[in-house]
Amino acid sequence: MTKFYLEGNFAPVRDEATAYDLPVEGAVPDALSGRYLRNGPNPTGGDPGHWFFGEGMLHGVELRGGQATWYRNRYVRTASFEAGRHLVGENGMLDLEVDVANTHVVAHGGRILALVENRAPTEVTRELDTVGTFDFGGRLTTAMTAHPKRCSVTGELHFFGYGVFPPLLTYHRADPAGNLVQSEEITVPGPTMIHDFAITEHSVVFMDLPVVCDPSLLMAKTMPYRWSEDYGARIGVMPRGGSNADVRWFDVEPCYVFHVLNAAEPRPGYLEIDVARYPHLWRDLQDAFEPTTLHRWAVDVAAGTVKEETLDDRSVEFPRVDERRVGRPARFGYAVHTRPGRDGFAMETALVKYDLVSGAIEEHAFGPGRTPGEGVFVPASDRAGEDDGYVLAYVYDAARDGSDLVILDASDFGASPVATVALPQRVPFGFHGSWVGDAEL
Ligand SMILES: [Fe+2]
Repeated sequence: MTKFYLEGNFAPVRDEATAYDLPVEGAVPDALSGRYLRNGPNPTGGDPGHWFFGEGMLHGVELRGGQATWYRNRYVRTASFEAGRHLVGENGMLDLEVDVANTHVVAHGGRILALVENRAPTEVTRELDTVGTFDFGGRLTTAMTAHPKRCSVTGELHFFGYGVFPPLLTYHRADPAGNLVQSEEITVPGPTMIHDFAITEHSVVFMDLPVVCDPSLLMAKTMPYRWSEDYGARIGVMPRGGSNADVRWFDVEPCYVFHVLNAAEPRPGYLEIDVARYPHLWRDLQDAFEPTTLHRWAVDVAAGTVKEETLDDRSVEFPRVDERRVGRPARFGYAVHTRPGRDGFAMETALVKYDLVSGAIEEHAFGPGRTPGEGVFVPASDRAGEDDGYVLAYVYDAARDGSDLVILDASDFGASPVATVALPQRVPFGFHGSWVGDAEL
């Protein structure tokens, strides 16, 4: 059976294209001046072994002056890519030196960085050409998560690296200019897969969940992690600026979480951490994904308790908030309605908007056969309110086997799109992206 990640709009595209002055239906808001960039796996040859193993390709659209001025897609040309190496080597072993750089793309300190969690970042230009590995001037000695968190108040970038071998988990903090100013090894009992984490106003939150490295899988041509029935599940809360000795660990119900929607600490020592939660992951098969629900961990640090609550029963993934609200109370969140299953992972044809204060949930359905990827919120201006802006997503249209960049009004989420930019080729379903405004660079 063909693997799900090689079929339909998960299948890779072959060409690296450049197109200018793209056709627009509707009107691109003048407020949008910058570029929407998104990363994802685009395997260069055959079956790479897992959805997560394809070589990273960036797809970008620049918006300026009410126009969609260009579209580009480019491989992230890491050293291993240029050498033609794949994550599963010719001997069938996982090659942990290979850098597929396929998961996210963010801007910090004037640089655009393509990220994958088992390697250092790769810097690319605003036109998506690869500059090379960026290891913070040699100071970053671990891998870097694909989900760093920038504090909008201090401008600092908080992140971590995890590994199969010690150090298993290391916390890092970079200043607004991109200088690495703190690295702290964090003690965890075993080599778990740690995809994301969270920050709040006062704290950093780590997730140590029971998807554990199994060395017998290093030859299995798939992800070398599987569900553990006895590892347990815990979240660690560290004061910002603290160290390993300051981390408080709290047991939670066993589960897996790839992605945090947001976390906040409305009063010191009380944290609300909202996540897309899998009841378990890769218990039997590394291509199986259970339905994922929005879930809240409410942590009372002094009492040593965690209260758990499911906020919505529909399956969602790729949760995002307004980047200015990361680590602070956020009213609105966005996610892709999904349909995971035993044989893979699928997107539904709608984006979901959560009002976390009122509990209201809206969907934007793109119509039959029109399937969105992750939605990224872009404020209408620096001072705009939390709901005053746009949600950008690539939408695949099965009828024409092509893709659009769709711009929704975040405050009128169910309405017809503000603008639909027709792209010159299909954009495969991928992982994560960012709006990189002109002021970022
Ligand atoms: Fe992710």
